[in-house]
Amino acid sequence: MTKKVIVTGANGQDGAYLCQSLFKKGYEVHACIRRGSTTKTGRLKFLDIIDDIHIHQVDITDYISVMNLLKSIRPQQVYNLAAQSFVQDSFNNPMVTSKINLDSVMNMLEAIKTLEIDVKFYQASTSEMFGDVLSDPQNEDTPFNPMSPYAISKCCAHYLVKNYRIAYGMQCVSGILFNHESELRGREFVTRKITSGLARLASGDTVSIKLGNCDSKRDWGYAPDYVEAMQLMVEEKTNSDYVVSTNTIASVREFFTMSALAAGFKPVIEGEGLNERCLDATTNRILYEIDKKYYRPSDVSYLKGDYSKIQNDLGWRPTHDLPAISEKMIKFDLKLLSGSLSFDYTI
Ligand code: GDD
Repeated sequence: MTKKVIVTGANGQDGAYLCQSLFKKGYEVHACIRRGSTTKTGRLKFLDIIDDIHIHQVDITDYISVMNLLKSIRPQQVYNLAAQSFVQDSFNNPMVTSKINLDSVMNMLEAIKTLEIDVKFYQASTSEMFGDVLSDPQNEDTPFNPMSPYAISKCCAHYLVKNYRIAYGMQCVSGILFNHESELRGREFVTRKITSGLARLASGDTVSIKLGNCDSKRDWGYAPDYVEAMQLMVEEKTNSDYVVSTNTIASVREFFTMSALAAGFKPVIEGEGLNERCLDATTNRILYEIDKKYYRPSDVSYLKGDYSKIQNDLGWRPTHDLPAISEKMIKFDLKLLSGSLSFDYTI
């Protein structure tokens, strides 16, 4: 019998890759997209799966809507990827962030419990929960120390999933995913902001990129690898949470430099703090400058994940390092600007 799966946040970077991967594996995919005046399916269209999957417009912060969705589909698997996922925005909109990131999980778990559906539930947890890290590298046993309303909402959701697992014996797991990027990454996130900005500069534009905290270090992986890790967790009989990462780190500055080289520039960084900037040695043009509006009220300065548990238990490991990811993103952004490729995730 064909397995039915619901993916919330289906038009996000991870949601779209996950729907594509599940469809290719023969699942009946039900893609859940935020209810709004327009239905945003740009990434699903780009991956050419829009006609192969079932689209549902649902407000997952509304219990009745979630209940009706689960009742009508009765899936074997649910991946809850819908979120207000931009950390910086959570400082400006903490209530909306909490509503989307926490209420939706409560609604899903409560509806599954009430309907008594035999379903495996996956929750998108995040390395941001480690925040101001209490040990290094971070693994499944590292205590959380969140630094933003976003991370706090994700911690609450994470504990909720754990509680439904313990209290009711439900099949629900959380993947603690470290940063993961790709050609389909949104432009508000720093890697895509950098690669799309560099592609613009390489195509002749002269307005420099404005960045915030370039000292910040992240463990950056490739999103398509990470959606495979999610599926391994869901397919696995055991009910356990896993860290998904690369166990390597780079600063925002290092990511910028490798991307600038991939775009054909000769980056030279000068100055410190708010006066830091990067020039192209060939043309002397400014590539980036610091703008303090991109600093967060409290930031996470360092994250490095230890993925040995998922490697040992489920055989997962990352297949792309950061220079390879950066090169793919730069090439993609250059193609978009030249018009040889068309993609708009905002529609
Ligand atoms: N977005 C952004 N824009 N970040 C900047 C900038 C800028 O101009 N300049 C410096 N940074 C720094 C941020 O302060 C942060 O320390 C780091 O770059 C990464 O920022 P983001 O790319 O916005 O990602 P994030 O680490 O905050 O969160 C992402 O990864 C998490 C872990 O998987 C998001 O995808 C989260 O939803 C996810 O949970």
